[in-house]
Amino acid sequence: MCGIIGYVGAGDVRDILLGGLRRLEYRGYDSAGLAVLTRRQLKVYKAAGKLSNLETRVPGRVRASLGIGHTRWATHGPASDENAHPHVSADGKIAVVHNGILENGRELRAGLTAAGVAFASDTDTEALAHLIAAESDGALEDRVRRALKHVHGTYGIAVCSASEPDKLVAARNGSPVVVGIGDEVMYVASDVAALAAHTRQVVHLDDGEIVALTPRALHTATLDAEPVNKSATSVDVDLARYDRGGHAHFMRREILDQPEAVARTLSGRLDRRFHTARLDGLNLDARELLDVRRIKLLGCGSAYYAGMTGAQLIEALARVPADAEPAAEFRYRNPVIERDTLYIAVSQSGETLDTLMAVQEIQRRGGRVLGIVNVVGSSIARAVDGGIYIHAGPEVSVASTKAYTCTLTALTLLALHIGRIRDLSPERGRALVEALDALPETLEKALSLETHVQTLASRLAVSANAFYIGRGLGYPIALEGAQKLKEISYVHAEAYPASELKHGPLALITPETPTVVALPGDGLTDKALASIEEVKARHGPVLAVGAMPGPGNAQSVDEYIATPASLPELSPVVLAVPLQLLAYHAALELDRDIDQPRNLAKSVTVE
Ligand code: G6P
Repeated sequence: MCGIIGYVGAGDVRDILLGGLRRLEYRGYDSAGLAVLTRRQLKVYKAAGKLSNLETRVPGRVRASLGIGHTRWATHGPASDENAHPHVSADGKIAVVHNGILENGRELRAGLTAAGVAFASDTDTEALAHLIAAESDGALEDRVRRALKHVHGTYGIAVCSASEPDKLVAARNGSPVVVGIGDEVMYVASDVAALAAHTRQVVHLDDGEIVALTPRALHTATLDAEPVNKSATSVDVDLARYDRGGHAHFMRREILDQPEAVARTLSGRLDRRFHTARLDGLNLDARELLDVRRIKLLGCGSAYYAGMTGAQLIEALARVPADAEPAAEFRYRNPVIERDTLYIAVSQSGETLDTLMAVQEIQRRGGRVLGIVNVVGSSIARAVDGGIYIHAGPEVSVASTKAYTCTLTALTLLALHIGRIRDLSPERGRALVEALDALPETLEKALSLETHVQTLASRLAVSANAFYIGRGLGYPIALEGAQKLKEISYVHAEAYPASELKHGPLALITPETPTVVALPGDGLTDKALASIEEVKARHGPVLAVGAMPGPGNAQSVDEYIATPASLPELSPVVLAVPLQLLAYHAALELDRDIDQPRNLAKSVTVE
């Protein structure tokens, strides 16, 4: 979703602003722009579409004392040159880039229009530029602070003024802002990825904070002008992971990364002595975990599907009632928060607004929340009471792959940990520890299925519709498999519990509608085989993925991808690999924009 980069001080516009915007591309965007201050004059360049359109509009050599840049993912108004950020006040002196949504944007625009302001775009953000310009007295940070008093909604903003050529102001409410400290230069960004090429020393703003940056100093305060002391932290960003590493797409690189990434999730966490998992970051001791009566997992998209699997594993291994719910639904239904329920927020980016808001709502009502998060220092990671970092490394492709499997691995560790505190036997604990230990190797074997999977992907690529089905653990596997196919190949795919097929979707089965069946190798394989028969009886082609025991069963389907042996509890991780490859190769065949599929964003920081 939208991205911000800015700097003040020594710097090269192309390198910092355009380079920073390149690093933000992965979040998803549909237009981009930048503003630079040269000899007390703001120059603004914008372009709808890809960043390359903007690059051709920016002169080869630009000297500027400061600049701000933005990638926009359209919310208010279509993706056009006019609606791209930065937005500039009518006097041409204030430029603003903004992530988030101003909920009273419409009223603000109406009020300003009535006062005679002419708008150059359809955006809510432009209103903010005019509001700051209207606050004519004082330093830029004071003007921004006063203007923000009129605003309701979420924002991460960066603002500059032609009258203060060595100052940049940024503020945050619900949308991330991080300051980078350089040598005689300060940076601001919505994501450390945009500034990691220049500095590793960062300060994260919290909600309700504003910062004034000059080349050698930063002053942080609340929106009520109370100074706030913030200390810098050092971020560890592997820049090489923001490179395709010789692959055609980040997605393929990230699929292939999974054995290594999952090994990082597991590193130091397997306890062979007590046949359990060591999870110190939970900040919960065994006694506190014994008091937990219920576990609720919350997330969006693939993180929600991972949460569904996590709930199944927790219930099966730890015997604690558990369920998962989309974070956005949860936060708006006035949920009952219970003292003995443990809430778990699942998020790769740690910035998904609905998940973050759910965390804040639970905490406001006295609930305890853990996080399963990838990005260290992200908003959710900082808000929760403890949790597990999955250490997947940067995930750039919009479609989640390695973060999804690493999250599942972390949730399996959690289920094992709680299970061994309760009544999971040492024997089952040992078997799980052994299978987890072997998981990176198992994933290597799963990756070797690529050539076979590739040949089957053409079948899906020519279909208008596909079904994905599974029982038990197989159902969330099917949900995530269908999600991958639809988001990157645009082939319509629906997932159902296999048992639900005969209650409706069977009406749509034809020889042109393939059904992908996920077989986790649990006790429900026979039931899934019965569903396969129902599809076959309607002449629907069937592709089975997973473990199909029993001679002859493999012949009952049209195609069979046999996954490497592991425990059923780990099948969600193992089966994810061929299903990701299936979607990837179908999308490749259809020549889709795989890393940045249409209309989608990597990190959804608006409702
Ligand atoms: C977006 C992404 C999905 C992701 C979801 C939740 O929709 O495109 O891939 O699963 O957000 O993101 P999170 O960062 O919270 O896991």
